[in-house]
Amino acid sequence: MRRKITVVGAGNVGASVAQRLFDRGYADIVLVDIVEGLPQGKALDILESGPVVGSDARCIGTNGYEETANSDIVIITSGVARRPGMSRDDLLFTNMDIVGSVTREVVKRCPNCILLVVTNPLDAMTQHALEVLGFPRERVMGQSGILDTARFRTFLALELGVSVQDVHAYVLGGHGDTMVPLVGYTNVGGIPVERLLPKERLDKIVQRTRDGGGEIVALLKTGSAYYAPSAAVVQMVDAIVYDRKQVLPCCVYLNGEYGIKGLCVGVPVKLGAKGVEEIVQLDLRPEEAQALQRSAAAVRELVEKMHQRQAQAKAAS
Ligand code: NAI
Ligand code: 2OP
Repeated sequence: MRRKITVVGAGNVGASVAQRLFDRGYADIVLVDIVEGLPQGKALDILESGPVVGSDARCIGTNGYEETANSDIVIITSGVARRPGMSRDDLLFTNMDIVGSVTREVVKRCPNCILLVVTNPLDAMTQHALEVLGFPRERVMGQSGILDTARFRTFLALELGVSVQDVHAYVLGGHGDTMVPLVGYTNVGGIPVERLLPKERLDKIVQRTRDGGGEIVALLKTGSAYYAPSAAVVQMVDAIVYDRKQVLPCCVYLNGEYGIKGLCVGVPVKLGAKGVEEIVQLDLRPEEAQALQRSAAAVRELVEKMHQRQAQAKAAS
């Protein structure tokens, strides 16, 4: 029997993820959205590509959750996206309510799933989903670091005129302005990038990486990126489905690793069939370790805002 993967949110990211997964053919896809007709229409359109792309998978769209029962993997992309002038953090409370309600539906029907969060602000939403679900941390993760790292690798490859595949790098920390591109771990075919580029040039590329999401928002004007984000999500799904045990930067709950406790933040993890199978501890340069702590502090601020809001709602009820 084929696996089942549910994608909640049939917008730009959700539909792109569904399409990429359908093309792989290893799972039936359930696409969920609140807008009537939207998930049904997109799912049917994707399904009808099957004969052309050679996929026998099923793809159905729905406004409910019955069809999602016993999904192996659930991907949450539902929520509001950024518009020009907005930061990811501006989406906090709106998306907290959406992710919370979706997650409550998921936990009832897919108690054994691996849950992957995409909705922004990513780290806070991953933490919220984890708290609502009560799953072990191995089965809850957020996508951000693969995308941020892909942008860093793309800009470096363009600058140096080399294949993107020869650029090795990690971007850790929260998915926001405080993200931490690890220059010390960045190399091109084994040669440290600091030997290939002057500091000013490298600093500019680091900054462009931090602003990468905003650069796309400013161009699109009506929403945010989805081609690279959906590719990043599917890399995580591939690692799980094929039990690759691949080391990828993902947002996961830290319990003291990297000196961070009780918080979801982006770090390298080993992803396999069981989900997060190991948190990989890199030796960071002092300035990178400090930058990671600052990034975690920014995420903690958002998480505290969510906790305060939950406490107020409880007191009022
Ligand atoms: P979009 O606006 O195209 O799609 C969002 C979809 O969610 C809409 O179709 C909407 O109807 C649906 N939705 C809203 N409330 C819902 C609910 N309660 N149940 C089911 N569906 C619901 O937005 P897009 O571009 O797909 O982005 C989605 C989210 O992903 C945003 O929060 C965005 O900021 C985030 N994002 C995160 C990235 C990352 O790297 N973590 C990358 C790109 C986007
Ligand atoms: C991005 O980085 C919007 O978080 C999304 O493109």
